[in-house]
Amino acid sequence: MESMTFVLFGATGDLAKRKIYPALYNLYLDKKMPQAISVFGLGRKEFTDATFQEHVRKSIETFSRRKAENDEQLEAFIASFRYSILDATKIEDYETLLKKVEKREAELNIPQNRMFYLSVGPEFFDLIALNLKESGLGTTAGWKKLLIEKPFGHDLASARELNERLSKAFTEEEIYRIDHYLGKPMVQNLEALEFANPVLQALWNNKHIANVQITASEMVGVEERAGYYDHVGALRDMVQNHLLQMLMMTAMQTPEKVGQDQIREQKRKVMEALRPVNGQDIHENIIRGQYSSGEVNGQASVGYRDEPNIKENSSTDTFIAARIWIDNDLWEGVPFYIRTGKKMKEKSTRIVIEFKDTLKEIYEEKKEQIVPNLLIIEISPNENIKLLLNSKSPFENGKIEQVEIDLTHAQKDVPEAYERLIFDAFKGDSTFFAHWNEVELSWEWVQPVLDAFEQGDAPLHFYPAGSNGPEASDELLAANGFKWWLDS
Ligand code: BG6
Repeated sequence: MESMTFVLFGATGDLAKRKIYPALYNLYLDKKMPQAISVFGLGRKEFTDATFQEHVRKSIETFSRRKAENDEQLEAFIASFRYSILDATKIEDYETLLKKVEKREAELNIPQNRMFYLSVGPEFFDLIALNLKESGLGTTAGWKKLLIEKPFGHDLASARELNERLSKAFTEEEIYRIDHYLGKPMVQNLEALEFANPVLQALWNNKHIANVQITASEMVGVEERAGYYDHVGALRDMVQNHLLQMLMMTAMQTPEKVGQDQIREQKRKVMEALRPVNGQDIHENIIRGQYSSGEVNGQASVGYRDEPNIKENSSTDTFIAARIWIDNDLWEGVPFYIRTGKKMKEKSTRIVIEFKDTLKEIYEEKKEQIVPNLLIIEISPNENIKLLLNSKSPFENGKIEQVEIDLTHAQKDVPEAYERLIFDAFKGDSTFFAHWNEVELSWEWVQPVLDAFEQGDAPLHFYPAGSNGPEASDELLAANGFKWWLDS
């Protein structure tokens, strides 16, 4: 891997502390780092190189997945960190940074390969990108890359505007849009599951699949993020990015070759085939919910509107369920149900594929014992894959029962999403980063729903904290003769 400079904006922030430094450190321990690396942390706080290195050390000691085998390892890693104070609006600060970066490049004798990671609020993305260009930091004799986190825009118009501004400083190939769900091992594994297994691939279509259910439920509420969440809501926070990404990964068709361009092309095609929802379709296909008071895991919980710093009578969605149709030959007639919510009964991110049970009818009196085959892909907090089949019990007079085939990998110390994604970005592999096409098409699908919400044109269903969401979400599936599987 080529030697490089890693420039981190927002170096004193929470994400850097919890995820980015530990991720870099684990890559270092796994020898997945460039040969030589110069790291610059940037922020508005007054740090010296030494106090910054101390900050990084604490973050690693607290949050790292793996611990060092000896003190020297951690010291050697931290020694490559430097700090530079930077006000994102001041071009002089970038010019000062450029001098420091060049000096380190000369000291370490490394090429001008520069990766800029923007771990800052989205309002700074374009400003920083343009200042990188103007200051000369982005004019390198080597390569340059820009890593940014969600949210990418607040709606379709602002996402387009942001992309246009970013593209003045970076090409699409240079931009790595992080969606941390794409860094989850089981989400990445969907590709192999679908394409490397002829047994499953043969069934991966509307002839054999009855419906697909994608759930991302959380037990936490808005926590300390009321200011952000109350004008964002679940549709923007989870559906536009994470849930639609999981849907793309599940519904993509087999490419001619498995490579970054081909996978992203297949994902784009899924989004192009999503049936748009407008007007009356929104009422029929989208359920918008908000938690009221209840009990989560035995603990009393206030309703969303009573959370600190949430507007009285706020109609922000904390839950979304949707029925999505993909208008292509592979998926015609197969509903994809997605749902996400805060303050739900359990923390679970999973995909359940329900197969058609066309053979049931041949079992006359045992018909009722036969249940649909299910493929369950648990993404988090557990990572596993299970196939549920019908099997004849050796007891109970040959009663047909469900048995589980467990396809789980032996659980070891699995690298975290940020480790995987940063490593891919080092290598220049964009497979698990969101391409602009995917982002734009996601916003295009979401926008009419957002508009309907804003115009008060979609009912808000309340659900008790600690439940599986509003009843309307169950009715959405019941209307097609289905139910959410695995709801306890
Ligand atoms: C973030 C959302 O993108 O994902 C949060 O902004 C949410 O609201 C989080 O809690 C969930 O991520 P995970 O990995 O815990 O499922």
